[in-house]
Amino acid sequence: MADEPSWVPPGVDTRRANTARVYDYWLGGSHNFLADQDVARAIVAVEPNARAGARANRAFLGRAVRFLAAAGIGQFLDIGSGIPTEGNVHEVAQQADPGARVAYVEIDPVAIAHSQAILGGNENAAIIDADLRDPEKILADPAARRLIDFGQPAGLLLVMVLHFIADAEDPWRIVATLRDALAPGSHLVLAHATNESRPAAAQAAGTVYNRSVSTEIHMRSRAEILRFFEGFELLDPGLVYIPQWRPDSPADVPDDPGKFWVLVGVGRKP
Ligand SMILES: C[S@@+](CC[C@H](N)C(=O)[O-])C[C@H]1O[C@@H](n2cnc3c(N)ncnc32)[C@H](O)[C@@H]1O
Repeated sequence: MADEPSWVPPGVDTRRANTARVYDYWLGGSHNFLADQDVARAIVAVEPNARAGARANRAFLGRAVRFLAAAGIGQFLDIGSGIPTEGNVHEVAQQADPGARVAYVEIDPVAIAHSQAILGGNENAAIIDADLRDPEKILADPAARRLIDFGQPAGLLLVMVLHFIADAEDPWRIVATLRDALAPGSHLVLAHATNESRPAAAQAAGTVYNRSVSTEIHMRSRAEILRFFEGFELLDPGLVYIPQWRPDSPADVPDDPGKFWVLVGVGRKP
């Protein structure tokens, strides 16, 4: 389209809402279009917590990366990393350890193009164009192998992405494949939408989402999400709602932490 900004990669249909860009809109980013904004606002109309939930998730990601860095993890594989915005994993990790390395993986062309733009010249971080549904390809990717020493503990970040994989595509097998490639002492950081805490709100938001966005969302029960930690020791405080995971201050935990209906946790591979 003639009035599109020059950074839009060829072949991107900006008239169709897309997961990465709806999320970017909620986070206050500028890499989204009218179709994405319309859907984001329609979801907020049925679930007013959606925008605050996206921000709370982003804050969790920062806390989890700092936690891993403090545990000595200096290399991260962040799959479904999103459109770069404030508090990107390499920024948080490199604050703790300037030599920290990050391999980002994305399927969305806007996220990939913008990641390439901000990572250009950064020896310690790269974006890989790959699909979480093909973990073998991610593990074999030359940039992943350059940045991640699979003989040493690494952080595997699957934050708000596994709910875009249908049961039929066996997301548990995908996580197990990635886990098996990791060295002992590696950590899994996971955030996943659940239909348990506020089923009516989750269903209403999911219906709007799946009607309008090209990638379907599959919310799961606590038990189904817990299964992703098979082969990991779930660390304290376990699988909890976003604000409950090692809050910076007790005041950050609202009375109803399940209002964001996303379960998060960190596990360690023994
Ligand atoms: C809600 S965003 C989360 C971004 C970031 N992880 C965070 O939590 O702030 C989900 C991202 O996953 C990406 N994604 C969805 N399905 C994917 C797949 N099969 N492989 C790789 N990335 C995927 C989307 O493009 C989107 O950018």
